Amino acid sequence: MKDIEMLPMNIGLDEEVREKVCATLAGVLANQHVLYIKKRNYHWNLVGERFHTLHEFYEAQYTQIEKAIDETAERIRQLGGVAPGSMAEFLEAATLEEVKGGLIHGEDSIKALVNDHDVVIKGLRTAVAEVESQGDAGTADFLTALMQSHEQMGWMLRSFLR
Ligand SMILES: [Fe+2]
Repeated sequence: MKDIEMLPMNIGLDEEVREKVCATLAGVLANQHVLYIKKRNYHWNLVGERFHTLHEFYEAQYTQIEKAIDETAERIRQLGGVAPGSMAEFLEAATLEEVKGGLIHGEDSIKALVNDHDVVIKGLRTAVAEVESQGDAGTADFLTALMQSHEQMGWMLRSFLR
């Protein structure tokens, strides 16, 4: 691939800081992809009496995550980084584990997703503190909002459980 030179950036965050922040964002982007695909998987392969409700609920949630994926990748670009763009890169950087396609009951799928959201929320909480300590207020704000959206999604999932 040909090297493409961009104009240097002068936004008050030096290159080293921006590289660290982009690496943090790349980890977030990777987990978002795993969670996105897992929700699609469950949207397709769910069985049981709550099929219809959960089928639609998962669609609403993965659509929300799809938007977050785009925003996260574009934030990397705004900081002068290159967004990872392949499944291999996402799987390598992700801390969440994907699951193969297979029939699953509603309750089991919810429990798996609640756990994944907990992992993502904890990861984002650490990431916010990291980028704050680097002086990147913009990314701290972005990741805080993302963490809040995961807290909201986690709450909705948890509320399905008895
Ligand atoms: Fe669908």
